[in-house]
Amino acid sequence: MTDLDTRKDEALSAIAAASDLAQLDEQRVAALGKKGWVSLELKSLGTMSPDERQQAAPAIQAVRAEIADAIAAKKASLEAAALESQLASETIDLTLPAPETPRGSIHPVSQVMDELAEIFADLGFAVATGPEIEDDWHNFTALNMDESHPARAMHDTFYFPDAAPDGGPASSSEAVGQTGRMLLRTHTSPVQIRSMMQQGAPVRLIAPGRVYRSDSDATHTPMFHQVEGLVIDRDIHLGHLKWTLETFFRAFFEREDIVLRLRPSYFPFTEPSVEVDVGYSNEGGRRVVGGHGDEEGHDWMELGGSGMVNPRVLEFAGVDPGEWQGFAFGLGIDRIAMLKYGMNDLRAFFDGDPRWLRHYGFSPFDQPTLSAGVGVRP
Ligand code: DAH
Repeated sequence: MTDLDTRKDEALSAIAAASDLAQLDEQRVAALGKKGWVSLELKSLGTMSPDERQQAAPAIQAVRAEIADAIAAKKASLEAAALESQLASETIDLTLPAPETPRGSIHPVSQVMDELAEIFADLGFAVATGPEIEDDWHNFTALNMDESHPARAMHDTFYFPDAAPDGGPASSSEAVGQTGRMLLRTHTSPVQIRSMMQQGAPVRLIAPGRVYRSDSDATHTPMFHQVEGLVIDRDIHLGHLKWTLETFFRAFFEREDIVLRLRPSYFPFTEPSVEVDVGYSNEGGRRVVGGHGDEEGHDWMELGGSGMVNPRVLEFAGVDPGEWQGFAFGLGIDRIAMLKYGMNDLRAFFDGDPRWLRHYGFSPFDQPTLSAGVGVRP
């Protein structure tokens, strides 16, 4: 055996004995690396005479090829074994139950506000907003509720500390350029004033939002939600009001048999004023809207107030009552939400109990649209 053969056999058995890729690479470097013995043998060919070289070269080339093949084969088998053992150790148990991902839900009040905006948008109404911290001029005076109006009393309205209702002008409210004493708005009606002062006439808007009163029992919470409506143009009359509310309630409750009754009433900001009642029946202890309130088994339920905007209110808001007229309405959002979705305690709306929210909440993916239906059921 030549010296070359001996070294080759040693190298091949070392390659065969390599138990991982790192050991195999050591063998590759030792033989075929830049300073590996096979490489040095190949290099030595350069120092030989052409005859010597012709004799020696084929044997060295053959050894180099044989070792390279052996390394490649061993590498493949080590890699296959590594994959094999990885597969064996990394099995995934697909029978484990997946952990639950908590998902929020849309509060019924938000859902109903979205439904309102969708239905009224279809009737050409814009959505307006106003501040919840309001001054008494926008909340009362400009709505034709003068200093002696009972709603202005402390026990009905939340005033800010420096603003006793019978005190002098409040310093902080003057500093922010507001008119009069600061309070938490008691209704969404001041948005009528702000919108008319800002944009003049004509107007066609709704203004949903939070309102505050010093009140608390099963049907009253200190904070609740209203939606205001205002339509001002040249020839608007009570007939438009009735049609608008009927059209809205039919779309909202998804029933054609909605019957409204306009009952004469009084509000300082409308003249004439009406209260809006809807016919309903009792089905299994639940109030279901629909039908004429005077029919057998039916009754009327009040949903809100409305009327023709008092000319004095238009004047306060800088709109000429000789040229413009229109109607306004105010509805309780929480109440119509309770009616539509069958809830019975208003206080639960604002307790933030996750169980209630899970039960009555809406999927964030159920956006109300007129085409797909505004009446998603929880
Ligand atoms: N602002 C009234 C309230 O909160 C509701 C209301 C009644 C609003 C008649 C109106 C209206 O716009 O015309 O009790």
